[in-house]
Amino acid sequence: MIIDSEDDVTPAVVKAMENAPDARLREIANSFVKHLHAFAKETRLTEREWEYGVGMLNRVGAFTTDTHNEGILLSDCLGLSTLVCLMNNGAGGSTETAAALLGPFWRMNSPKTANGGSIVRSPTPGPALFASLRVLDHNKKPLEGTEVDVWHASTTGMYENQDENQADHNLRGKFHTDADGRFSFRTVLPAGYPIPTTGPAGEIVLYQKRAPWRPAHLHFLIHKPGFKTLVTQVFVDGAKYLDCDVVFGVTTALVGDYKKHESGAPPAPDVKAPWHTLDYTFHVEPGDSGLPTPPIK
Ligand code: BEZ
Ligand code: FE
Repeated sequence: MIIDSEDDVTPAVVKAMENAPDARLREIANSFVKHLHAFAKETRLTEREWEYGVGMLNRVGAFTTDTHNEGILLSDCLGLSTLVCLMNNGAGGSTETAAALLGPFWRMNSPKTANGGSIVRSPTPGPALFASLRVLDHNKKPLEGTEVDVWHASTTGMYENQDENQADHNLRGKFHTDADGRFSFRTVLPAGYPIPTTGPAGEIVLYQKRAPWRPAHLHFLIHKPGFKTLVTQVFVDGAKYLDCDVVFGVTTALVGDYKKHESGAPPAPDVKAPWHTLDYTFHVEPGDSGLPTPPIK
């Protein structure tokens, strides 16, 4: 097709897709092209601005390694991850626990940890947290043998893969629920932390003059064949940045009741007051038990 004017371009590119065999891929690609071209026309994008945008994409790729996923970070900072998450999962109003974005820091092969065990694998500052969780199905029946990945950042503001001072898989663990659907573990109370700002995603956030911080939270990935995999986070109530999470990830239903204990018998002999506890129940529904592609190794 010969292109004589700007109005010829979009139909030509859409037509170029017509023999692609997968109907859903054709639908997505054509919609993407139409919106991309409409954006360029709406803003009357200049050649220098186009160059800048392409350079940004190139830098997202160049920043991505086995231990850092700038693409996911960019999607998170633009709100796309949360939008896709909420479009595909309940927001806590149904029988299903609200989902939250996966983020760029999930690692697939966290160490299997016995129920009640600790995920503190190297000295980590912060008050002790004892978490007791339960997984129920859509009929409120306990789901025994559910695999649950847990991960969170250190109170120094970094995940273990970002920080050579933490042991491999510090603050990460894989648990299995018991006959009552329960699992529990010991860790330290999570703190808020800044997302990486050295790459293009962080540059956008800083340019917007937004605080690059996430409120304190624990991550959970709940997986059981026959049930829809639940990826979610439980936020610390009262934490700073709950209402301005840099990646738009906070849902009211996911603010947990973390209790502070100043006195009484501590849950382990080495624990000094104050310590904290969290009780939370997850509800999963029958569905696709597929796992996400790990953002990092
Ligand atoms: C996280 O919670 O691990 C996270 C999510 C989005 C961007 C950065 C970190
Ligand atoms: Fe996190």
